[in-house]
Amino acid sequence: MKICIIGTGYIGSVTGACFAEMGHHIIFVGRSRKKLDIIKSGKSPIFEPGLDELLLKNREKLETTTDIAEAVKKTNLTFICVGTPSREDGSSDLSQIEEVSHSIGKPLRSDKTHHTIVTKSTVLPGTIEEFIIPILEKESGKKAFVDFGIASNPEFLKEGTAIEDFFHTDRVVIGTNDTRTKEILEELYKPLNVPIFSTTLRTSEMIKFASNAFLATKISFANEIGNLCKELGIDSYSVFEGVGLDTRINPKFFRTGIGFGGSCFPKDVCALIAHAKSKGITPRVLNSVMAINEDQPRRMIALLKRHLNPKGRTIGVLGLAFKPDTDDIRESRAIPIIKMLIKAGARVKVYDPVAMDNFRQQFPDLDYTTSAAEVLTSDAVLIVTEWKEFESLDYHGKLVVDGRRIEKARKEARVYEGVCW
Ligand code: UDX
Repeated sequence: MKICIIGTGYIGSVTGACFAEMGHHIIFVGRSRKKLDIIKSGKSPIFEPGLDELLLKNREKLETTTDIAEAVKKTNLTFICVGTPSREDGSSDLSQIEEVSHSIGKPLRSDKTHHTIVTKSTVLPGTIEEFIIPILEKESGKKAFVDFGIASNPEFLKEGTAIEDFFHTDRVVIGTNDTRTKEILEELYKPLNVPIFSTTLRTSEMIKFASNAFLATKISFANEIGNLCKELGIDSYSVFEGVGLDTRINPKFFRTGIGFGGSCFPKDVCALIAHAKSKGITPRVLNSVMAINEDQPRRMIALLKRHLNPKGRTIGVLGLAFKPDTDDIRESRAIPIIKMLIKAGARVKVYDPVAMDNFRQQFPDLDYTTSAAEVLTSDAVLIVTEWKEFESLDYHGKLVVDGRRIEKARKEARVYEGVCW
């Protein structure tokens, strides 16, 4: 099948590369000619393990263009994979969705063939029916579910393991109100041999938000228990190893520490909170999830201050990315931690294997080192991202506050504090 992928960020580039690997011909549409040329050359525009190889291997099946109309005319299936960032008040910014919906609707007017439009971007329940469809129908003069198909097909990809998550997802969720679209997408995903959950548009949109909100809730719940464990001298990792043996609970996403970052959990939980409030609902649990998460970095600084006053001292930070195996620093816990260190008058020395260039754009005045070992020469070391290479450093004689559970530091440090253990 020839598939149009609009958006060459994290979701679009991974989705297009994986569909190409499944044998489909992909037309990537983006605004940045530079990023498109990178993809056309068989390289990834983002840091994602394995993506370079997948794009290079399937290079002959890839086309790129900045012209949505051209791509829509040359295909019968379009995936919307653009960003839906947070606004100041936490609500979703749909400007990119709006722009591409107009650009898709226009060529549909003269399109004699049936076209299916799939929203893979994370949008709040009701967005497709109340926002996207009206634009498509107005621009095309056609009727949704009659003259063109439309569906919700949220992604459940984790940065750093996105390709694995695509091919071995626990489930594909398809939301649509017409059989033809349902069959097209079920056929597309059939080779994955995974459960396909078909439902309505807004149920599918809500499944995405509820999934992310629950995972964030799981982390904040673990951190609340972990904070208590810390005061009781209990290892929260052992607690959740035992808790997770209950098959109703499962052991995943109980890694306690300095909390969650990334471009999804904070954004999606805040969007759901704003949406609930707009409907007169007070999301008490979700408000607490965010409050606990905001507190975890403060707990790390408080633990540091139990052992030294950071003012005038050099404090090392190991890890800047929001998680390992990515260069993404969006909502990274390193951001509030480093802001608090600067406010406390510390000199900050940092290292991250891949995220330093991104971080330097926001924080140009830090001491960016060329190796993790250099950070260890600081007066104290904070572990913020659990990069594998941090398990091979020599922590002997060091003062370490660990936000991500690096076992070697726990064994070797002269003074060691785990945030939740
Ligand atoms: C998340 C969801 O997992 C994924 O399904 C969705 O499609 C996108 O958002 P991602 O944000 O890429 O994926 O990474 P994830 O591995 O979920 O980690 C998110 C944050 O939670 C990271 O900052 C990580 O450090 C933190 N985390 C994760 C914990 O603090 N504890 C855990 O046990 C797991």
